[in-house]
Amino acid sequence: MKKLPLLLLALATFSGGILHAQKFEGLALTPPMGWNSWNKFQCDVNEDLIRQTADAMATNGMKDAGYQYVNIDDCWHGVRDVQGFIHPDTNRFPSGIKALADYVHSKGLKLGIYSDVGNQTCGGRPGSRGHEYQDALTYASWGIDYLKFDWCNGEDLKAQGAYATMRDALHAAGRPMVFSMCEWGQNKPWLWASNTSHLWRTTTDIYPCFDGTLDHTNWQQWGVLRILDAQKPLRAAAGPGHWNDPDMLEVGNGMSVNEDRAHFSLWCMLAAPLISGNDLRHMSPETTAILENKGAIAINQDSLGIEAFVYSATNGVEIWFKPLAGGDWAMCVLNRNKDAQKISFDWKNENVTDSFSSRDTAFATTTYAVQDLWTEKDAGTTQEPLTAEIPGHDVLLLRLKK
Ligand code: GLA
Repeated sequence: MKKLPLLLLALATFSGGILHAQKFEGLALTPPMGWNSWNKFQCDVNEDLIRQTADAMATNGMKDAGYQYVNIDDCWHGVRDVQGFIHPDTNRFPSGIKALADYVHSKGLKLGIYSDVGNQTCGGRPGSRGHEYQDALTYASWGIDYLKFDWCNGEDLKAQGAYATMRDALHAAGRPMVFSMCEWGQNKPWLWASNTSHLWRTTTDIYPCFDGTLDHTNWQQWGVLRILDAQKPLRAAAGPGHWNDPDMLEVGNGMSVNEDRAHFSLWCMLAAPLISGNDLRHMSPETTAILENKGAIAINQDSLGIEAFVYSATNGVEIWFKPLAGGDWAMCVLNRNKDAQKISFDWKNENVTDSFSSRDTAFATTTYAVQDLWTEKDAGTTQEPLTAEIPGHDVLLLRLKK
């Protein structure tokens, strides 16, 4: 009996290294949508929370809006057994992860889990170093659908190799899993990770602040605008199956409604993974309306998978454009200031071109119908100049329909 797992491991190791040097294709063709425990609950995770979150997602409109993954972040781990297999913390997850995956699947949702390249996770739990193939087999046997793989205690490893090892281990284990790299952009993954993972973090951790930086002893957390600015040079790296990840959402975690709306709109414009990070069991109507806005989500999930770019920036007002399938465009006017700003935009005089996607709005010759995605009202056409007042730390989000 004891020899069987070892034989399986040896086979998986061999075939993973030689035959399966690839990630699972056909996954995350649009940015992944779901929920993750970290932003709200940090280490305070258990099976009741995960079940209740799956229940909430399935019934409160989130699932209908497209959210699918229920992801357990750090601190689910117990110990490794004498053969090196990882087990969940039996106090927090007494029924085991397989039973939890079955439950989440029974709701028509998918379960994600978290590990780390190093010997220990950021929360001090067992990491996957030296156990990559074994952990991948374990996750596959549990029915896991998504792995977030962190970078704490990886200092003496090379990121490209360490993440390729886990990619190969997942592929060898044979169960399709979205592979989410979390090395905080330290090794410029946008230059090399499109064949390694389906998404890669581009920055340090977010926190629920619109415009700020939170200093810890040896690391920082960044607010929405600082993370946004770090995405501007990276858009060419993203596309179907391989996404820049500017970190999970903080909608519903303490920013103002205007700020939450701006944060969500910008993440939609960036074709960012939409991984909610709030308590789905207790959402205010405002939070629900933001996270479930179908027009904004359609921009995020557009099949072209092209990130937005900044067309103009004046007095803290940025105008972003995102090419969409079928000749449509999304436009987001971001007011970075605390006070309201008036804007006017005479389409016919503007020349919006994107050499990356070879697209041109051709406003002089093409008329678009304008939809305001937050008021959910038609807002005329591009024949008439646009005028608007945008509150502080807020956006105007439009779809231009051809
Ligand atoms: C790192 C990651 C976070 C979270 C924590 C867990 O900070 O960037 O997203 O996973 O670890 O400890």
